[in-house]
Amino acid sequence: MSRLGSVSIARRAREMQASPLRKLAVTAEERKKKGIKVYHLNIGQPDLPTPPIVFETIHNLKQSTLAYAPSNGLPQALTAWKNYLRSAGIDLDEKEIIVTAGGSEAIIFAMCAICDAGDEIIVFEPFYTNYNGFATIANVRLRPLPLTIEDGFHLPSEREIERVINDRTRGILICNPSNPTGAVYGRHELEQLVRLAKRHDLFLLSDEVYREFAYDTPFHSIMSFAEVYDRAILLDSSSKRFNVCGARIGVLASHNVEVVQTAFKFGMARLSVASIEQLALVPLLNSPEQYTAPIVEEFRTRRDVVYEELGEIQGVTYYKPEGAFYIVIGLPVANAEHFAKWLIEEYEHEGETVLLAPAQGFYATAGKGINEVRLAFMLNVHDMKKALNIIRLSFDPYKNAKT
Ligand SMILES: Cc1ncc(COP(=O)(O)O)c(C=O)c1O
Repeated sequence: MSRLGSVSIARRAREMQASPLRKLAVTAEERKKKGIKVYHLNIGQPDLPTPPIVFETIHNLKQSTLAYAPSNGLPQALTAWKNYLRSAGIDLDEKEIIVTAGGSEAIIFAMCAICDAGDEIIVFEPFYTNYNGFATIANVRLRPLPLTIEDGFHLPSEREIERVINDRTRGILICNPSNPTGAVYGRHELEQLVRLAKRHDLFLLSDEVYREFAYDTPFHSIMSFAEVYDRAILLDSSSKRFNVCGARIGVLASHNVEVVQTAFKFGMARLSVASIEQLALVPLLNSPEQYTAPIVEEFRTRRDVVYEELGEIQGVTYYKPEGAFYIVIGLPVANAEHFAKWLIEEYEHEGETVLLAPAQGFYATAGKGINEVRLAFMLNVHDMKKALNIIRLSFDPYKNAKT
């Protein structure tokens, strides 16, 4: 019998999922120890260098005490975020911005601010898997609405969305440009959400951490719709656009005073966000374009290469992702998780293999995305081509191995 007797953790704790991408990553490490080179197409951690000014700023800081920052953010950081957002066409006052520990904390704060336990937020699947974890922490139920690969994962009609709205629905959460699909929502798609939000008194939560990564069509922020001035909540992060994922700096911003004040109170409870990192990002936020432009160009090139190379792989279903640095593709296999496992456990081509992210983990509806994987464009063009070639060559050996 356990020394703990009958003590047990909460149902919510048991429901909390570990990252579905972790299991295969452990196998990948074992394979590397055996001398196999593994191309990682599974994770969204940019491989490009952080702008040197971030480290220079840290080296030049003259502080005798590492003190708590104000709970809503350091004044210099708030002004820098205001400047950055203004350069992106979004006008907000410092008082309407809360600095958070990454976009992740901003999303949790937003969910906690608008939902009571058991309330619902509509999401479009496949979606960023951590939304599940955030919803579990916040005691919120996600109401998934499936998108299809054939539409390049664009939003369904207003009527279809309206069908899943009920009296527990508090908001609609979008990720635009989207992780994991790369879709960039057009103005007319967003207008549908705006109309629904007004008609049903909902909040619109917009995760715009990939804002700059819109390659073909103009990006429209939810904050550009005056009709939802009081019900739009912007969730943002420095992580991807500046290659500073480890800094853990994001923001929640809104014109809705109650939402911002509530997020501020949540912020007070966790006291402060890391102060050095807030300061280190000020130069980037004050002059963003020069830092984001080369990063965006690199990912545009990779997107183009991936799109072209996918055309060489027979039986794959794909589309042209318009933004971010991901794509969800359909594979000519019955079960993509089984295939990804086989690829990393057993397959090699000239001493190399690939780690993929099965897309099932990006869906909440059971049975969806079974033959799909997400590719993250985290390799340079040369390696990306090699990785996609390995995938191309692996299907026949996979079929033979199975029989
Ligand atoms: C869509 C999306 N939202 C939010 C985040 C959270 O990022 P961070 O907490 O590093 O700002 C990520 C990170 O991958 C993401 O892809």
